[in-house]
Amino acid sequence: MALNLVFMGPPGAGKGTQAERFAREHGIPKISTGDILREAVTAQTPLGLEVKSLMDRGDLVSDDLIIGIVQERLARADAARGFVLDGFPRTVPQAAALDRLLNGRGALIVVEIQVPDEELVRRVVSRRICSLCGRTVSAFGDDGVAAERCGHCGGSLVSRSDDSAQVVRDRLKVYWRETQPMIAFYQERPTYRAIDGMQPPERVRDALVAAVASALGQPASELKAGTTVRPEKNA
Ligand code: AP5
Repeated sequence: MALNLVFMGPPGAGKGTQAERFAREHGIPKISTGDILREAVTAQTPLGLEVKSLMDRGDLVSDDLIIGIVQERLARADAARGFVLDGFPRTVPQAAALDRLLNGRGALIVVEIQVPDEELVRRVVSRRICSLCGRTVSAFGDDGVAAERCGHCGGSLVSRSDDSAQVVRDRLKVYWRETQPMIAFYQERPTYRAIDGMQPPERVRDALVAAVASALGQPASELKAGTTVRPEKNA
């Protein structure tokens, strides 16, 4: 029984943070379209050269291009037991395409992580990525002091090219215009859940596990790392 998940929410909601952990704990791949595109930009592949300026402005890559990327990724063997999608779908045509791609692969569970806009801007402008180990961290530690080195490996911390305050505000406009309508596409389904993302990451993680378990119709205690997922009742 596959565990097919979408974590959705605006820039900075914590999708990537939670998807990485959930995927690791449950032995399924995290599939982040933003990460796939950024890797292509860094490697200067034809795809990367095509999408770089769009991403730097905070605009969306075309539906056809991104659907093709996800179709190819979902066809790989490691996604047969399920996946966590982070950043896809983000338009109604992408959501409709995902339904077609999943035909016969089991139910799709969609969890929306809700966070107010001003908190999102604060989180994104202070986000840093470790240039060595790739971890996402905040530029400010718990003591509020600016960090210059990764606390895990000592690598230097860099910002994403689309994480300036102005581009984040533009990305939020794109989110409300293009992605918010997708919530109506999913909201009436029995496997849609929304959770409060304005909590510490550990609490968000617990809320996510509870949301996924309830969408599957099983107790959260049964959805511990590495446990088998029973067939869902609500699919
Ligand atoms: P993408 O990489 O998907 O960016 P995004 O959706 O804007 O999301 P972010 O990565 O900014 O935020 P997140 O929710 O993952 O937050 P995170 O966990 O890092 O897309 C980038 C671009 O690629 C798009 O603009 C577009 O151009 C293109 N693209 C990608 N997919 C596409 C698609 N399907 N169609 C078309 N174009 C596409 O957390 C943020 C910060 O907050 C971190 O510092 C983190 O440490 C911190 N944090 C996390 N959780 C908490 C918490 N609970 N409390 C406090 N701080 C927290």
